[in-house]
Amino acid sequence: MKVIISKTHEESSVKVAQSFTEQIKSKPDSVICFATGSTPLIVYKELVKEYENNGLDFSKIITFNLDEYYRIDPRNEQSYRSFMTTNLFHKVGIEENQINFLDGHADNAELECERYENKLSKNPINLLILGIGENGHIAFNEPGTPFEETTHQVQLTESTIKANARFFESEDEVPKSAITMGIQSIMNADKIVLLATGDKKAEAIRQMIEEEPNEECPASVLRMHPDVTIFVDEMAASKLKGN
Ligand code: F6R
Repeated sequence: MKVIISKTHEESSVKVAQSFTEQIKSKPDSVICFATGSTPLIVYKELVKEYENNGLDFSKIITFNLDEYYRIDPRNEQSYRSFMTTNLFHKVGIEENQINFLDGHADNAELECERYENKLSKNPINLLILGIGENGHIAFNEPGTPFEETTHQVQLTESTIKANARFFESEDEVPKSAITMGIQSIMNADKIVLLATGDKKAEAIRQMIEEEPNEECPASVLRMHPDVTIFVDEMAASKLKGN
């Protein structure tokens, strides 16, 4: 696991965007898995700049995303599907037929998870971006999730509902469930980058990097992956030894 500490959220984001740019340039038909949330927003802005100013070609990539609320209409502004459309897909010319997304509106969550996992097995991910929750969650894999889990439905914890309430009118509107790639589905990616910024993430980052892999800190599984780079700003790195 490589750890790259930069001064600010912006500097870390620019470096993450560079990993994406290099991946897409070296393999234009890369399979890329994206995350939502506040953390990657600057990365996506940087990728839009690469597209507009330097002609970075997204036309051949295949996309996946880590997770989606359940149940939510994909057209709902708060859905992760809408988030990706607004912040990236529409801005860089990614077409419907390139996009794979968990359907937050599917009638049967279990079948939807099977369908997605099946798609993933046919399209192995070359590069995957993660954020991290304050409790160490990755995607919607909360503490206690078995490391062998593949795509599955979860009930959100109180802390995740509270943290996500900022995107909704009120906490009551946050869906109580989600469908998410499992820890095993994430670990299957060839290369993983994780971006974390701000002091609220410092404890999760410390546990992930300094403690033995354990299911109480889902992100700690990443220590067992052969190609992971953690990009953190100084605040998120503030609890690491020597900082
Ligand atoms: C989002 C996701 C989540 C977030 C995490 C951090 O697709 O999988 O695990 O990465 O909750 O969220 P932010 O970036 O909003 O702090």
